[in-house]
This record gives sequence, structure tokens and C-alpha cells, in this order.
Amino acid sequence: MKTKKAAETYTLKTEMVLPNDTNTLGNLMGGKLMHWIDIIAAIAAQKASNRTVVTASVDTIDFNSPIKLGEIVLLEAQVTRAFTTSMEIRVNVHTENLTTGERRPSNIAFLTFVAVDQSGNPIPVNQIEAETEEEKEWFDDALRRRELRLFLAGRIKIDDSEQLQKLFLVGEN
Ligand SMILES: CC(C)(COP(=O)(O)OP(=O)(O)OC[C@H]1O[C@@H](n2cnc3c(N)ncnc32)[C@H](O)[C@@H]1OP(=O)(O)O)[C@@H](O)C(=O)NCCC(=O)NCCS
Repeated sequence: MKTKKAAETYTLKTEMVLPNDTNTLGNLMGGKLMHWIDIIAAIAAQKASNRTVVTASVDTIDFNSPIKLGEIVLLEAQVTRAFTTSMEIRVNVHTENLTTGERRPSNIAFLTFVAVDQSGNPIPVNQIEAETEEEKEWFDDALRRRELRLFLAGRIKIDDSEQLQKLFLVGEN
């Protein structure tokens, strides 16, 4: 397997919120935003692995403020870390109002994609090299996020994870 620089997986997508994307209040529907997030994350994961990828999981996404009809949605994705067959992708969403020029952060999402062969079986992926301080932080934290999501999916136990023990058992004797 090769090693790819995290920055090589950077992907940018720009969308405008159109009438068909909104609810009756004129706000972007959450499902539409999740669709865009899924697509951009898949592209970043394919850049990293040069393989067909499937979505294995999406961490919690909070919708704290509405995105209005006519606003611009800027999505940026980058692979934070690769494991054996899976990769974690960070998607950062901003909105921009072209009339007022206001730009504001909207959501941050973490997704896990798995590279698969033509039969859908997981296959090993290229490793990711973090270069900047920010990428190194995302890389380090990716292990804790991975173990938490695998625990929530019932795939590992707290006893199997040093990271989760640190998180949940602080102060216990
Ligand atoms: C994702 C999928 C390929 C995993 O297959 P599997 O038989 O569970 O394979 P494995 O147990 O070998 O796991 C493969 C990798 O997936 C990861 N994984 C599996 N389930 C996961 C979950 N819920 N969250 C995060 N990672 C997960 C494993 O940790 C492993 O990663 P690693 O190799 O880097 O350690 C399989 O579940 C699948 O095809 N799911 C459907 C994908 C799909 O259709 N997505 C679109 C949904 S609309």
C-alpha cells in the first residue's frame, strides 16, 4: 500500500439552495445536506484509496441554524486517517449569503468509508500522512472517534479500547 498526504484528498463542493431542496419554511432539508456530505466524503475517500468505497457510518450531525433558500453551501472534505480497510473523512460545511456577503460555519461531520472489491468485500487502503498541525490533530483524534463509533455499533467493548477507558473510566480505581 502507498502513503498519501492528507492534503491530496482535499475536496471542495459548492451548491446553491434551490426551491426543490427546501421545506415549506424555505430552509434546506437536512436529508439534502446529508446527501451532499455523503457524496463529497465518498470523493475524498476515493482520492485516498483509488478504490470503490461504501459508506460504513456517519457520526452525529447537528443542525444548529437553518440554511435558507438561495444561500450558497460550501462543503470541504479531507481524509483524516486510514486504518486497515476503512477511512475517516471530515466534512466541514459553511454557508454564504451572496447578498450580504455573510459567511458562517454550519456543520462538521465525520464519516467512515470502507474500500471494497467488486464483490463488496473490504480491501486494504493507502495510509494517510498528516502534515500540518491541524491534520495531525485530526489524525490523532481519529483513533478515539473510531473506537467510540465501533463501541456504539456494538463492534468492540470498552475493555478492548485504551482510548475509551481513558474517556469513560477517568477517576475510577
Ligand atoms: C461497510 C461494510 C463493507 C463492512 O463490512 P464488514 O463485513 O462489517 O467488514 P469488516 O468487519 O471486515 O469491517 C471492515 C471495516 O469496516 C469498519 N466498520 C464496519 N462497520 C463499521 C461502523 N458501523 N462504523 C465504522 N466502521 C465500521 C471496520 O472497523 C473495518 O475497518 P478496518 O478494516 O479499517 O479496521 C459492510 O457492512 C457493507 O457493505 N455495508 C453496506 C455499505 C453501504 O451500502 N453503504 C451505503 C448505505 S446507504
